[in-house]
Amino acid sequence: MSSLPRFTALQVMQDAPVIPVIVLNDVAHAVPMARALVAGGIRMLEVTLRTPQALACIEAIAKAVPEAVVGAGTVRSKSDAQAAAHAGARFAVSPGYTSAVGQACRDAGLALLPGVATGSEIMMAQEDGFTELKFFPAMQAGGPAMLKAWSGPFFDVKFCPTGGVTLQNAPDFLALPNVVCVGGSWVVPADAFAQGDWARVTQLASDTQSLARR
Ligand code: 3PG
Repeated sequence: MSSLPRFTALQVMQDAPVIPVIVLNDVAHAVPMARALVAGGIRMLEVTLRTPQALACIEAIAKAVPEAVVGAGTVRSKSDAQAAAHAGARFAVSPGYTSAVGQACRDAGLALLPGVATGSEIMMAQEDGFTELKFFPAMQAGGPAMLKAWSGPFFDVKFCPTGGVTLQNAPDFLALPNVVCVGGSWVVPADAFAQGDWARVTQLASDTQSLARR
């Protein structure tokens, strides 16, 4: 577990308008990619646990890029949470929610953004004390209209919509009072990694800084 300062889920969300959803297939890409994002103004980095190299990538970033705050995405189990924390992750994002994952992240010292797509899932996460949530998959599950509908009954919940979000539609989400930031993979395209085009990653990150947040 990291001995560095802990962040709350709200702090993770408030740091920049976009949390990049990163899929890394090559450990050699991890550090230059993280440096490129930091150079573009994004330091909260969600490295998804969906490749065999993901934990090694988290570890490499945690060791070599202290300006970044690396988190783990696609956390689906207690063992994912434990492995992510062990590798140096400082926050976690899950595609859905279970109490076991919520508790495992607490035990591991990881701030968690639990994924929700329905009112019942929001209520389950709230019962366990989570009030900052990832709305996933945001576009497929109702987009900004869904978040507007939730703002009534779930007036005390803040969201990070992720899934189908782009530079073009992000403002529609960020204009909503219950949205703090968005998540997306468009900032970290696989072809840029393959080409080692880190300047493009920095430019894509810089482009997100103009996105207005409330
Ligand atoms: C994911 O977990 O894959 C994210 O939601 C990314 O979605 P996107 O590729 O549509 O940004």
